[in-house]
Amino acid sequence: MNPNKALWEKGDFTRIAATMREGGQALVDKLAVTRGMRVMDLGCGDGTTAIPEAKLGAQVLGVDISSPLVAAGNRRAKEMGLSNCTFQEGDASNLAGIEDRSFDLVVSIFGAMFAPKPFDVAKEMVRVTRPGGSIVMGNWIPNDPTLVAQLLKISSAYTPPPPEGFVSPMTWGVEGQVAERFGAAGVSAQKITFARDTFVFNFGGTPAMFVADFRDYYGPTMNAFEAATKSGRAADLQRELEQLFQSQNKSQDPGRTSIPATFLRVTVQVP
Ligand SMILES: C[S@@+](CC[C@H](N)C(=O)[O-])C[C@H]1O[C@@H](n2cnc3c(N)ncnc32)[C@H](O)[C@@H]1O
Repeated sequence: MNPNKALWEKGDFTRIAATMREGGQALVDKLAVTRGMRVMDLGCGDGTTAIPEAKLGAQVLGVDISSPLVAAGNRRAKEMGLSNCTFQEGDASNLAGIEDRSFDLVVSIFGAMFAPKPFDVAKEMVRVTRPGGSIVMGNWIPNDPTLVAQLLKISSAYTPPPPEGFVSPMTWGVEGQVAERFGAAGVSAQKITFARDTFVFNFGGTPAMFVADFRDYYGPTMNAFEAATKSGRAADLQRELEQLFQSQNKSQDPGRTSIPATFLRVTVQVP
């Protein structure tokens, strides 16, 4: 199976997504989504941002490589009576079957950054956006001191090196690389803006319990624990992650965890 798809079908990302609802809503509130707008949410998961977009009246298509997440998204939209929000399987590196210029807005929050072939991803996002429309990406930033960058950094120290030619998803958090990718897709640097933003994860348990959810349900962390178990270092990984989550937790309630994480918000005006 496609390793990118296998990674995101592993475990159950909906467990992590459940901690991202307020963050997703806060982010969508900044996007000027309006009634009737045609929005593609790419790498949508179970609809953390797609559902809030649809609640604002947009016509939303969620696209994700993971079949269980697409099913979970469609279930959530149905339960909420959102007939203007559908989810389908697709690969950000090749949006075959999706017509050129068919969306006013393409949103990808911590989604398309995980697809292989980043130049193809930029090309596809530009292709499906109408001229005058826009693309908004949320991308984690390499070496940032906050949660997700550190989680991925620690995890990678326990996993075998990736295959030759692998491009780290974190390169989407480097402004120069983002500009180069969209430049190759025909968008000049003046049409791209960058901002640092914050996404808050809210979990109804202690930081150690939150780590356990990542260990048990989040594909990249599950892989790190599998590799660390083989090398006899699982306890070290557990300890490093518990320290990280504990130190990032801002909740005053000992039974809850609230962790703000910094990301790069990229806005592209499609010519
Ligand atoms: C960290 S999750 C974020 C999900 C969602 N945007 C959210 O904020 O909850 C990354 C998502 O990207 C999806 N993804 C990874 N590679 C992809 C690809 N090549 N094409 C489309 N989606 C992809 C995964 O299946 C997963 O749902």
